[in-house]
Amino acid sequence: MSRHSIVIVGEGGVGKSCLTLQFVHGKFAESYDPTVEDSYRKQVTVDKKQAMLDICDTAGQEMYAAYQDQYYKSGNGFIIVYNVTDRMTFERIKSYRDRIIRAKNSEEIDAKTKKAMGLEPDQDIIPPMVVVGNKIDLDNSRQVSTQEGQNMSKELGIPFFEASAKTNVNVTESFIELVRQIRKT
Ligand code: GTP
Ligand code: MG
Repeated sequence: MSRHSIVIVGEGGVGKSCLTLQFVHGKFAESYDPTVEDSYRKQVTVDKKQAMLDICDTAGQEMYAAYQDQYYKSGNGFIIVYNVTDRMTFERIKSYRDRIIRAKNSEEIDAKTKKAMGLEPDQDIIPPMVVVGNKIDLDNSRQVSTQEGQNMSKELGIPFFEASAKTNVNVTESFIELVRQIRKT
């Protein structure tokens, strides 16, 4: 069975742990307990093929962020999460994406490897990513519209879902799309 290492990133409190727990255990917790680092494992069947997912739920709080680049380097695919009720977290999406790309390209990758991937020697490897706008159940407090999310997704060329870890909307879908993206590479 193939194994994929998935890393969940985004600002503190956007719902990374709740999305992960909803996906892995089908549970939601109202209380906020900032993550230092947690890992989970889940077997999934996507398009009739099984895969084992190693999920790394990272810290959004800056004081715990020291090891983030290490997680970024080891990830095969990334879910970048923002909170639709907090514009600041949406504005940070691009910087997470850039940081992931930088981490994945920080080691010398020889021209031959890149050529095999269909890239020029000076082109960056773009790892599989999905963007998730979480907390859509809090519709009255929304600060980022669906349209803005879609525009960002188009601009960055990254698949996008609006989700709720609380009401379990588009949680599984986001992970499945990432598995599909990983398989394309
Ligand atoms: P860090 O670990 O500090 O980076 O935070 P996090 O991104 O893991 O956030 P976490 O999952 O801990 O959720 C933060 C708070 O938001 C908690 O109080 C959750 O109950 C709440 N929350 C998470 N997802 C949702 C959601 O979809 N809807 C609502 N209403 N609340 C949510
Ligand atoms: Mg967390």
